[in-house]
Amino acid sequence: MGRLGGSVLLLAAMIAAAGAIDTVAGPQRLSAEPLRDGEWNASVSVSLADKKPISPLLFGIFFEEIGHAGDGGLYAELVQDRSFDALAAATGFLESSERQMRLDCPALLAAHHHPMEPLHAPWRNPSDKVYRSKAEYLQERRADTNYDPRNDIIVAWQPLPGTNADLTRDNPLNEHNRISMVLTAGAPGTPSGIANFGYWGVALQRGESYTVSLYLRTSESSSRNVTISLVSQDLATAYANVSFYGVGGSWRKFTGELTAAATDTNARLAILFDGPGTLQLDMVSLLPTENVRRGEGLLNPWPFRADLLGALKALEPAFMRFPGGCYIEGDWLRNAFRWKDSIGSWAERPGHLNGVWGYWSTDGLGLFEYMLLVEELQTEPIWVINNGVAHGDSVRGADIMPWVEEALDSIEFITGPADSKWGSVRAAMGHPEPWNLTWMAIGNEDCGKPFYLNNYLAFFGAIRAKYPHMRLVANCDMGQDAPTDVWDWHIYTNPTDMFNRRNEFNGRTPENSNYVFASEYAVTDGGGWGNVIGAISEAAFMTGMERNGDIVLLGAYAPLFVHWNNRPWPTNMIVINNHQWFGIPSYHVQQMFRQAQGTHYLATQVVTNPSTQVHEDKVAASATCQNQACDRVALKIVNFSSYRQRIAVTLSGTGSESILSEGELVFLYSDHPEDENSFDEPKKIAPSSAAMDGLSSQFTLKAEPVRTAVAAPQRLPSTNLDVTHAVDATLDVIQSSIEQLKSSYNNTPAHHQPASPPAAAHTPAAAEHHSPAVSPDGQRWIGEAQADGTILFRSLDTCCGHMVGEEADGTVTFHFD
Ligand SMILES: *[C@@H]1O[C@H](CO)[C@@H](O)[C@H](O)[C@H]1NC(C)=O
Ligand SMILES: *[C@@H]1O[C@H](CO)[C@@H](O)[C@H](O)[C@H]1NC(C)=O
Ligand SMILES: *[C@@H]1O[C@H](CO)[C@@H](O)[C@H](O)[C@H]1NC(C)=O
Ligand SMILES: *[C@@H]1O[C@H](CO)[C@@H](O)[C@H](O)[C@H]1NC(C)=O
Ligand SMILES: *[C@@H]1O[C@H](CO)[C@@H](O)[C@H](O)[C@H]1NC(C)=O
Repeated sequence: MGRLGGSVLLLAAMIAAAGAIDTVAGPQRLSAEPLRDGEWNASVSVSLADKKPISPLLFGIFFEEIGHAGDGGLYAELVQDRSFDALAAATGFLESSERQMRLDCPALLAAHHHPMEPLHAPWRNPSDKVYRSKAEYLQERRADTNYDPRNDIIVAWQPLPGTNADLTRDNPLNEHNRISMVLTAGAPGTPSGIANFGYWGVALQRGESYTVSLYLRTSESSSRNVTISLVSQDLATAYANVSFYGVGGSWRKFTGELTAAATDTNARLAILFDGPGTLQLDMVSLLPTENVRRGEGLLNPWPFRADLLGALKALEPAFMRFPGGCYIEGDWLRNAFRWKDSIGSWAERPGHLNGVWGYWSTDGLGLFEYMLLVEELQTEPIWVINNGVAHGDSVRGADIMPWVEEALDSIEFITGPADSKWGSVRAAMGHPEPWNLTWMAIGNEDCGKPFYLNNYLAFFGAIRAKYPHMRLVANCDMGQDAPTDVWDWHIYTNPTDMFNRRNEFNGRTPENSNYVFASEYAVTDGGGWGNVIGAISEAAFMTGMERNGDIVLLGAYAPLFVHWNNRPWPTNMIVINNHQWFGIPSYHVQQMFRQAQGTHYLATQVVTNPSTQVHEDKVAASATCQNQACDRVALKIVNFSSYRQRIAVTLSGTGSESILSEGELVFLYSDHPEDENSFDEPKKIAPSSAAMDGLSSQFTLKAEPVRTAVAAPQRLPSTNLDVTHAVDATLDVIQSSIEQLKSSYNNTPAHHQPASPPAAAHTPAAAEHHSPAVSPDGQRWIGEAQADGTILFRSLDTCCGHMVGEEADGTVTFHFD
């Protein structure tokens, strides 16, 4: 295609909701029909004369550590809780001051998921009820005043019968990894040890090599031997063994290779020794040996699971936003992702409780690994930083500077020369060449929370002053309160609303509004676990992104990954278990749009035929030039109708007279709008392509009748972020930072600036810590100074589904949802 000079080619990328297009099942060759007067239900007109350039970064991905996207997912580690910290968090040992704690396995099993059983319910509650939506789950969970997020933590270790297992603070492996495990053997002659169940089983492939590494010591005077085995679920069959001799009084790292004698996706890793005696262990890792080999030259092994890396590569994302989301905020600041704890040798990363999503994060995927991923995907990084605001507490303006410096240091870590302070740390980890970084996001969904505005200004000012090229993402349009390079817009909704959101950005132009980053969008209600109708409606929304691709600079579906055994969110683009993955229909829609992403949007109009029986507004379309010369055009048509449709396509303007009759059609459809993919049928819903002829400046696409009608989904409230302005409850406005900000902003010609210059910071009336502040959206807030200099704030209403407060006898009771 595209061989005839000066002509226009049509690449018809067709997306049909339900109902097959005729001849699809036959040979992959289709013919368009000539256009006949009035014989059409919807018409799509494209003007080749009316075009505008659109953002090259329109379709990217958003990686958040949610649903075991990283730990248990893309991160290749096969041992769950390799340094026993999740266990310490689940048992309360982490927060206790005890020196040692014996595992009480029956009690742990009662409070937590059975470690050896896969979870079936996406949302867990005591009655094991299955919820179909997060809203339903949260509603019930909020009512449960005894809810403790630590109960969601999976306990992945199980001592062998007779073996005592103690968490200990004695003889820590290093100053960052302060908790380890001591095993005390049972009766002499019986095997002693502990087993790890991986992430819902350790997946072994017959003949494949796995590398085990762990740190061992013993408090006894004589040395001892330890055997590591890959075993079956009942621990009765060993698929591979390796023995280590001479475990002595000081910590020593032992490494060995294990070749699996059989394929078993539900295996265990067992650490075995003979009694009597004790054994102390930490950092127990099992990785495919190919990861260890590929990691040569890096401080740590190559971090990515090969098949899941492939799933991302196939999307060819224009950018990657990472690592959150709520993950960067934390339920509390103490559980926020802090990049400095996520670098260096993996044995020296303390890890942290991913309190929002209910599991332990090893931080094995840290800032360095995220940047490796960016490099591997050849994509544009969008690094999201915590700006001193968590779900439950915040850093007030006066104390924010250390957090700002942490952000500045991260830029040096990523982009600094190998002899700079933080660049040298990166170099020591095996990557002396600096990476590029152009985009950072300040916080996540934090507009409306106390201190966001103040803290945003401090971050914006400091980062822009030192790195004038940096483009900074705000959590909402900051309006007159602060400069906005580009702002986050999120939507989780039902298919009908998503389809209608294709018009969301119409009328916005770079002249009248700030740039938008649709950084999270997905159908979550009525989308099943990821069905066709959800994907189709997202495709319609994406035609709206293209139509407004001069103001919507970037967009990403969310979330990216979920482990099928632990689903905190109903719909996720890529569903995984420990050895498989499949893309939900939305994955394929994302890929189709990215592969047909163009350079220019061509004015596209959809009209329904008023003279036909039912004329619903259920077709969406957008057309793009695929290159500067515009000799290839991609037309995306989305059919959201439950009726048979005949779609007329008309192209006008110079070039339309020389359209070649041959094109390519890529289509995704199903007879059943509720169809989903699964591990058994991973490609039940996937795009097909066909050569198409009969194209000209006017043609029709005919469609066959359908068997099922599209169910009309119920409309539910959305989480669309609107223009909300932060109210600061303390008045600790950092004037110097704002001055710096204004001057640096005014000196930055490269970027779009709002029509009016940034006004002075928003300074509402002083708020007492104990009297509620009211934000412009009507929410009431109470802030209380904490001993560590942070302010704990509580909403007296609700905010973003995160918090509920009650006032009684002058004190506020706060429930974290
Ligand atoms: C679609 O158009 C055809 C041909 O004009 C017409 O017969 C049919 O009733 C229309 N369908 C609907 C749902 O309007
Ligand atoms: C450890 O293994 C070596 C070699 O098999 C053996 O000689 C030694 O007795 C073993 N030590 C213990 C404590 O079992
Ligand atoms: C591993 O060791 C156990 C116990 O000695 C033995 O029964 C089993 O055959 C060994 N398995 C392999 C694959 O070497
Ligand atoms: C960084 O950007 C510069 C300028 O665009 C480019 O030459 C260089 O190759 C980029 N480096 C990396 C590591 O992508
Ligand atoms: C549009 O979808 C309806 C069913 O939802 C189907 O009857 C019709 O054939 C589809 N049209 C096209 C062009 O695929």
